[in-house]
Amino acid sequence: MTQLTAEQVAQFRNAFPAALENELMVAHTFLKIGGPARLYLVAKTGDEIVQAVDAAQKEGIPYAVIGGGSNLLVSDDGFQGVVIQATERTQKIEGTRVTASAGVFSGLLARATADAGLTGFEWGIGVPGTVGGATYGDAGCFGGEMKDVVVSVDAYDVTNKKRVTYSNAECRFGYRDSRFKHEPHVILSTTMELQVGDSASAKAKIEEIMGKRKDSQPQGTFSAGCLFKNFEFTDESVLEKLRREGDEVPSEMLKQKRIAAGWLIDKLGLKGTTVGKAQVSTVHGNFLVNLGGARAQDVLALSSLVKMKVRDDLGILLEDEVQYLGF
Ligand code: EPU
Repeated sequence: MTQLTAEQVAQFRNAFPAALENELMVAHTFLKIGGPARLYLVAKTGDEIVQAVDAAQKEGIPYAVIGGGSNLLVSDDGFQGVVIQATERTQKIEGTRVTASAGVFSGLLARATADAGLTGFEWGIGVPGTVGGATYGDAGCFGGEMKDVVVSVDAYDVTNKKRVTYSNAECRFGYRDSRFKHEPHVILSTTMELQVGDSASAKAKIEEIMGKRKDSQPQGTFSAGCLFKNFEFTDESVLEKLRREGDEVPSEMLKQKRIAAGWLIDKLGLKGTTVGKAQVSTVHGNFLVNLGGARAQDVLALSSLVKMKVRDDLGILLEDEVQYLGF
């Protein structure tokens, strides 16, 4: 990784005196892994993010905008650039319309919408991290998905240096995908349309989702959520090797044309596999947990081992869901 020059660092810090130097990313990721960001800026407003991105570009400094750090693996060597953390947490609920800035935590927004008597975003309680991150990755769980609730997204188009508002269709959402993963943008705020419901039942649904999560996903451990996307297929012939293994693919997965990565990993007996201090969760095969003191190298080695085994034994290529920084 090319080191930033002292001049680049000084120029950026001149414009943003609050920027920290060599901030360890261990402190800012759910996985509790990651070396130092050469520069680290907590951006309190969307305007500040835009200014910081422009300044970084002007100085030729690589940048990365992060939300809650929930779906992020940072290299042990850190990141030679500026990490800008989006922390504006303003939200507005008007009738059934909900607008939240990128730094609002999904779980807190889920509770606020339930308090306001709205239904449709209760599942947000199961999404770690922020609304910006959830929009970027079309997050979803327990039957809900961002693409089904988003009306529009305000963003900064970094290439054309202009603010834009995209409709749902323009966001080009797909399963754990959006245009924001393919074209440099900074997500500033997301507007959703929910339905009028009943506060008590929305809150009960939140409790139910939390219960389901507790039963099926590791709790109280450091993890970045699901490591891989579930495997989408159009033609069932790709399942040939899997079928030869003898196990029936659950009908729900066949119907959705998506095989759960966790199920595949479990099927191959990989739960509990450990490299260094990184472990495939014993609770859910698609969660990789940091047992304490894991290095990014451990996670990479473990992730490659899982991918290779799934590819060799079942002929299925798993794709990363977790975002990588500094590699
Ligand atoms: N399963 C196993 N063994 C395992 C894990 C799962 O047999 O170790 C089986 C389950 O029994 C179930 C199926 O696989 O029949 C699917 O499992 P689960 O309901 O846990 O859902 P998932 O497909 O593994 C997805 C999302 C999660 C989301 C849950 C709940 C992806 C990659 N994952 O997981 O999202 O929380 O549904 O709705 O789409 C994330 O994206 O980071 C994430 C955690």
